[in-house]
Parts: sequence; structure tokens; C-alpha cells
Amino acid sequence: MKKLICPLVMVLCLGIPAKLFSQQFVANYDESKVPEYTLPDPLVFDDGRKVKTVRAWEKRREEIYKKFEAEVYGVSPEWEGQIIPSELSSSEDALGGKAIRRELKLTLKNGDRSLDMIMLLYLPKSEKPVPLFLGYNFGGNHSVTDEPGILITTSWIRNNAATGITENRATEEGRGKGASSWQAEELIKRGYGLATIYYGDVDPDYDDGFKNGVHGLYKDVPDAGSWGSIAGWAWGLSRAMDYLETLETVDPSKVIVIGHSRLGKTALWAGASDERFAMVISNNSGCGGAALSRRAYGETVGRINTSFPHWFCDNFNKYNENEKMLPVDQHQLLALIAPRPVYVASAADDRWADPRGEFLSCVHASPVYRLFKKEGIPVTEMPGVNSPVSGTIGYHIRSGGHAVTPFDWQQYLDFADKNILHKP
Ligand code: GCU
Repeated sequence: MKKLICPLVMVLCLGIPAKLFSQQFVANYDESKVPEYTLPDPLVFDDGRKVKTVRAWEKRREEIYKKFEAEVYGVSPEWEGQIIPSELSSSEDALGGKAIRRELKLTLKNGDRSLDMIMLLYLPKSEKPVPLFLGYNFGGNHSVTDEPGILITTSWIRNNAATGITENRATEEGRGKGASSWQAEELIKRGYGLATIYYGDVDPDYDDGFKNGVHGLYKDVPDAGSWGSIAGWAWGLSRAMDYLETLETVDPSKVIVIGHSRLGKTALWAGASDERFAMVISNNSGCGGAALSRRAYGETVGRINTSFPHWFCDNFNKYNENEKMLPVDQHQLLALIAPRPVYVASAADDRWADPRGEFLSCVHASPVYRLFKKEGIPVTEMPGVNSPVSGTIGYHIRSGGHAVTPFDWQQYLDFADKNILHKP
């Protein structure tokens, strides 16, 4: 990312032992080797005062939020630009006649700079404004269902033999390839809309020195605390929300933000940053998402910053294999979403994402929910596989690997029915 700070300068300025830069970050999968750790308490101010009321929490929340901005995701700029929508395609009889489909180009205009993102929108045929799931897709909008009318993304996309992507361009071969991860028919059947955007429209997922995508909308020279790609993607979800708020067909008080993996990290940061999102779902989000960093189990902070230097702000490098110095941990990210419902899902074979660390975040975020007289997560022992638990925080560990499956969606829809659909 933003190759602003050369490693030598970082060593001098940040006091990181030089050997870390040559060291291989080896993943630990042994519970007995998880270091002892003390988590920062969401309900204790930096000066030691305890948070006893919702009002005090609002102030403490600000303290925690600022640390996540400064040290983990980076600060995103204010948006004062314009969003200009134009319809690219539509169908009144999508998904076997059950849904309305639209593709909208949303041009984000900031002075003389602009960026286009394309939203694919499916809505159930309904007299009333509908609740809706909003999330990025990995494969382009054309991968979300097999409907032939959907445009193939022309944005940069990672090469992938399975979906026929070479030279970083998507082709017809990818159509519908992600359909089982989206379950569009099921969502429509249960009365929900779906809005999805190819995440590469908002920021291409490679280390580009902080130039293209959303970063290119601003003239500012980035520094070590500026937004990385996850913050950029989260910011893009807020712009999508700005647009959804203008639609009469969507209930803006019932927009659920969802994401898988790096986009699960993104969904959590979007939910923390933008309180308009009514509910948040993180699927297998792992390190930098729902998993506690201090456990250093599976992917560590050092590993993620080495493999994906553009995802977080440069300050996050200070905590490479040095998690105990982090001023926050990821249970506090969930706490920032309180009292809104949040669902965290793990997969048993996805040890890289540290399922136990994801569960423990739910447990340690719960005291903040209880301050709001909400249940948080109703258990303290990790449930068995395929045995979902939920209060205002929901959690399950599914059998199988890193993916979004129909089982995951069943839980999300049930949780949304309970917390969103039937909300007055
Ligand atoms: C890698 C990365 C994870 C990330 C995942 C994904 O495995 O290490 O942190 O969640 O990619 O986004 O698919």
C-alpha cells in the first residue's frame, strides 16, 4: 500500500525489532500455544472510569472508534460529493417472475473526480418498502445469479481459472458461479431485497500505492493513519446506503449489511462506522474481522499485513506479531455495533480465521449489549457445530470450510426475521 514508509524508517520510528521483517510469520493451530492475554475492557474509559450508563457508553464508544480508525482501518474522509444514478438494465420479471431487477450505475462525483460503481438490485414484488441485504460480491454482479441480462463487470478482477478469468477481465464463464453464496431466490421468497456491488468497482484489491478506486476521489496525500482498502470498501457501502435511502421501494431502517471473509471484515467496519445499518453479518471474517487479534491463532496481524499490505492503515504494522500492544481488540469492534443485532459465523475447517476467537469476540462484546438491556450472546461456552445460538448477537460454527452456504443463509434469514422483519 501507500509505499510511503520504507521498512527502515518504520523500524526506527516504531521501535519494531528489525528481525521481524525477515521473519516468516508461521500460523499457530495449537490452542495450548495461544498466548496469555488481557483484553481491553469496552466498559472502562482510558482514564480508568467505569461505563455504567448508555450515555457514558456513547463517549466511550467514541474513544474506541477513534483507536480503530487511527491504528487499524485508517481514517476515511468525509463525503460531500454527489451520487448520480443511471439505470443500465431492468427486468420486471426476474427470478421466474418473482422479483424486479435493476442495474444502476452510481457515479460518485467529488469535484472534478469521479468513480462508478454498479449496483445490482433485486426486490420482491411488494406494495410496501422492503427490508434488504446489502453486500459486496467477489466475482462481479453477473456471478450472483445466472440471469443472462446482468452485465459482466469490466472492472479489474483477480485471475481465476475456475471462472475463466485471465488478464484480470471477467467473462461469460463466471455467470452464476457465485449463486449458491447469495441465495437470491430464497431471499426474495422470504420478503427481502438484495443489493450487491462488485467490490473491485470501489477499490481494486491490489496494492496500488493508494491511487485508484475510492482513494482516487480525493487529492489528499495519504499518511500512516489514512484509510486502507477495507475502510474504502466500507465507505462504499455507506455511499450505497445513501442511494438506497432515496428509493421508495426500500425501507432504509431495515438495511442489513453482510460480507464474507475480507468483505466480512468490511461489513463489520461499515456497521461500526455507519449507524444507519440496522444489522450486520460477518461470515468467516477472521483476522481483522471478528476474531480476537490477541489470540494470534491462525492468521496473525503480521501475516495479514504482509500478504495484504493495502487492507489496513500503515499504523497497523506496529502490531505485527505484537498484538498485545494493540489499544483495541476485535470484540470492541462488535461492541461498536451495539445495540444493533450482529451475527458472526465461523466454519469448522476454516481454522485460519480462528473460529474460537470469533466466538470469544461475541462473548466479550456482550457486556455492552447488556448495558442496553439486550442479551448479547446467550452462552459463554462455544456451541457445537451446526448448532446456532442467538440473542442480539448470533453465532454459529458450521461444518465445512471457508464459504457462504445455504445453511449460513438460513441462519441469517431467521435472525433477520427475528430482529429486523418483525421490528415495528
Ligand atoms: C485470505 C486472508 C483472509 C481473508 C481471506 C478472504 O485468506 O488471509 O484474511 O479473510 O483471504 O478474504 O478470502
